[in-house]
Amino acid sequence: IPVDDFDLVIFGGTGDLARRKILPGLYRRFVAGQMPAEARIIGAARSELDDEGYRQDVRDALKEFLAKADQSEEQIAAFLSRLHYVSIDARGEDGWKELNQLMRDGVVRAFYFSVAPALFGDLAERLHHHKIAGRDSRIVVEKPFGRDLESAKALNATLAEHFDETQIYRIDHYLGKETVQNLMVVRFANVLFEPLWNAQYVDHIQITVAETVGVGGRGSYYDKSGAMRDMVQNHLMQLLCLIAMEPPSRFDPDAVRDEKLKVIRALDPVDPADIVRGQYEAKGKANSYIDDVENDESRTESFIAMKLHVSNWRWAGTPFYIRTGKRLRARQSEIAVVFKDAPHSIFGAQAGRHRNILTIRLQPNDGMKLGVTIKEPGPGGMRLIDVPLDMTFADALGSDGEAVPEAYERLIMDVVRGNQTLFMRGDEVEAAWAWTDPIINGWQDRDDRPHEYEPGTAGPEEAAMLMHRENRRWRDIKE
Ligand code: BG6
Repeated sequence: IPVDDFDLVIFGGTGDLARRKILPGLYRRFVAGQMPAEARIIGAARSELDDEGYRQDVRDALKEFLAKADQSEEQIAAFLSRLHYVSIDARGEDGWKELNQLMRDGVVRAFYFSVAPALFGDLAERLHHHKIAGRDSRIVVEKPFGRDLESAKALNATLAEHFDETQIYRIDHYLGKETVQNLMVVRFANVLFEPLWNAQYVDHIQITVAETVGVGGRGSYYDKSGAMRDMVQNHLMQLLCLIAMEPPSRFDPDAVRDEKLKVIRALDPVDPADIVRGQYEAKGKANSYIDDVENDESRTESFIAMKLHVSNWRWAGTPFYIRTGKRLRARQSEIAVVFKDAPHSIFGAQAGRHRNILTIRLQPNDGMKLGVTIKEPGPGGMRLIDVPLDMTFADALGSDGEAVPEAYERLIMDVVRGNQTLFMRGDEVEAAWAWTDPIINGWQDRDDRPHEYEPGTAGPEEAAMLMHRENRRWRDIKE
């Protein structure tokens, strides 16, 4: 179903995010027939380009970042004809009149701030001053949304000078991932899980976002952020919220975001002994973290594992273990809900320890698996084994996975639809920083140094100990 007609302006329209994610995403929605016939995309950036020059640049980006199967010359040409370009000075006056003239009345106006946060204020002010954005316009912003509570508050305040919270779409692209949304459906549309989804039945929960890539190429940004700011404060926090939150009364933006906010606010401060940070070493020809960021003195973590507590009635006593890192053994993101042992084993001690584990896999091959214990077939007596009830979504739905929109596609269309459910509210972002700040400050005060780890592993040994000392273990990160 096509969305309403729109003019989408991408500030930073020639930048990396636009070329890699936003424009390929829009192209795919165009091909899927979701872009109305008149909808337009207007690139705005500093470079002196005309429409044709921009279209050429976007054509190159599509060729580079779209899967071959998605590329059709005819469709690309049709898509490019929707594109316009304005050369604009975010901090000066050049280009704003031209932009104003380009915008149509009576259609949704959306402005994607794909630029450094330092420019958010300038853009907001000029959009307002030139009357390009009005009360029903929408603006889209990306992380990094601040680097601590103070800067996040300042950014929120800057945006609030010109825009109402209902106009601001803060993207966390993890919320656009199909399986992340499915998490809510699995929890709240099935009667099976919710009665068990609490400290009485759940021993612990693990969240892993493992990556094989290093930070080469993004070193200067990354070294100032580290895994805590780059991944935990946003993506892992969002996953944790969706797993831990109470059922919202409706699937509507504020009902969902209210419940997520309560989870963040219920997080206990973290004991330093429950945190393991790591930095990858060199291996073969591949650089070490220190080489990648070109900073011998760096204390920034490219890996982090932590044990968290959500202090509320539902989760009292059930730890959440989270970890994420670069240059690990495999690209694997999953959430595992590890249930408690059955209260009494009628099969005796020799049957061993068996637990139900529900794993929700975000990538690759998104799907769910429920580990159940059954009798090992054969005459050998009552021997028990664990087998997975496997539901890889692509298999179950008979699709090859191609049809599923990628995170950005879904989220940009939600902006046009005016649906904020999958976007972070300002108070959520601030609450997440309020929890993160003391942890990061603690490292600075104690001059904490990350442990080294070998690339291609599951991170530093100390991370494994975080679990072992409590007689638990991480799920394998498998190639
Ligand atoms: C980004 C981080 O937000 O998410 C990157 O800045 C990280 O460091 C990326 O690699 C991971 O996203 P995905 O969708 O590839 O899991």
